[in-house]
Amino acid sequence: MHHPLLARFYDTFLWPGERLGMASQRDRLVGHLSGTVLEVAVGTGLNLPHYPATVTVDAIEIDPHMLRKAKSRAAEAICDVRLHEADVHRLPFEDKVFDHAVVSLALCTIPEPGKALAEIARVVRGDVHFLEHVRSPSPARARWQHRVAPAWSRFAGGCRLGQDTEAVITAAGYTITDMWRSSGGGMIQGVAKPASHDR
Ligand SMILES: C[S@@+](CC[C@H](N)C(=O)[O-])C[C@H]1O[C@@H](n2cnc3c(N)ncnc32)[C@H](O)[C@@H]1O
Repeated sequence: MHHPLLARFYDTFLWPGERLGMASQRDRLVGHLSGTVLEVAVGTGLNLPHYPATVTVDAIEIDPHMLRKAKSRAAEAICDVRLHEADVHRLPFEDKVFDHAVVSLALCTIPEPGKALAEIARVVRGDVHFLEHVRSPSPARARWQHRVAPAWSRFAGGCRLGQDTEAVITAAGYTITDMWRSSGGGMIQGVAKPASHDR
């Protein structure tokens, strides 16, 4: 999980998409939160400028090269941010210590997303706020995603381009309580509640 080249060019690669709507989507993802937040797989920290001052963020990331990039965004954020080098499959936190969790563009890359979601449910009292690219609902596009997936995965640090992430979230025992889907259907953003929180 060391991808120095990806870390170096990640922001440049995402820049057009951020300008074309992703930055606003990140704002909608985290801009309304309050309390304590766990952000998993923070990458270079592209969500960090969008948090309000009312939150404290503990952000974890497995790749030290990504984490190094996130440091300057953490320093410039208007809220308190603590960065941790950690694996989402084994979070270094006690049970139920966070009000919310945030995950963006990462359930497609985390090797065992079901296990990661179970671990997130262990440490969070509230909901998981997610923003993810997903398998296209258009059969032609989904076929194209399937064709380019192996090359894409090598380029993008193991990202599974055509993953049905909505199904991954529900299979992990979460109920999706709110969800937006982009007009082309390739992006989803929403809120999911772990079933274990109902008990
Ligand atoms: C495509 S990037 C997304 C970064 C950021 N969340 C964003 O929205 O731009 C996926 C990130 O997941 C991280 N990642 C993958 N597996 C992980 C794991 N087991 N634990 C923590 N982070 C992981 C990668 O290192 C990478 O930084």
